[in-house]
Amino acid sequence: MKEVKIFAHRGASGYAPENTLAAFRLAEEQGSDGVELDVQLTKDGEVVVIHDEKIDRTSTGTGFVRDYTLEELKKFSFHNHMEAYEGETIPTLEEVLNLLKPGKMEVNIELKTGIFWYPEIEEKTMEIVKKTGMEDRVIYSSFNHYSIQEVRRLNPEAETAYLYGDVILDVEKYAAGTGVQGLHPALYHLYMSDFLKRWKESGLKVRVWTVNREEDMKHFIEAGLEAVITNYPDTAIAVRRQVEH
Ligand code: G3P
Ligand code: MG
Repeated sequence: MKEVKIFAHRGASGYAPENTLAAFRLAEEQGSDGVELDVQLTKDGEVVVIHDEKIDRTSTGTGFVRDYTLEELKKFSFHNHMEAYEGETIPTLEEVLNLLKPGKMEVNIELKTGIFWYPEIEEKTMEIVKKTGMEDRVIYSSFNHYSIQEVRRLNPEAETAYLYGDVILDVEKYAAGTGVQGLHPALYHLYMSDFLKRWKESGLKVRVWTVNREEDMKHFIEAGLEAVITNYPDTAIAVRRQVEH
């Protein structure tokens, strides 16, 4: 049976400040098979890796990402209240991909286009992926499914997945009918519907998020999904080892 992959959510964000180079480095050190990260655009159109539209929660600054240039954003510390990481800066997507390039991890790029649909974010993101030579290791996902269709329009070969939090009726038909290869459901969706009984026939790659409790890790690893996305990749890897034996 194929091994269920472990993806580090915003890097190993249970231990290091989310979406920073430190968190992605740690994810690799812990043996993750992939990372998930979020992208947004700065005022000067640079693709940066950050979850919230505002920098308040994770940095020493305040305000919207889109109101700052990259140079301005780089002046804040993104240590997210973890003192040991003071001075960690907001990474660009290019910096993250260059960091990960020598390794083997897959990279799930989540386009944050739900609140602001940043102009041409899909094109800019895909250009960076191409430039860094990471096209065959990247999976694009978004809660904004139009954004995913834009990715497909720009490159029909790109690997794509729909993100969703609510239960969607006939979600496999919807995904297959609109050309994506993967589904990224919130874990409660998989408990609320009978999807886990049906997904194998669909041939879709299912990567569930965000799985932080050991009992849930065990449940989804035993189900044989494509990947489990977690803030604690080391724990999920240990659980996978137990399940295998
Ligand atoms: O991509 C999975 C997960 O990251 C989606 O939710 O809010 O953590 O970006 P969020
Ligand atoms: Mg995300």
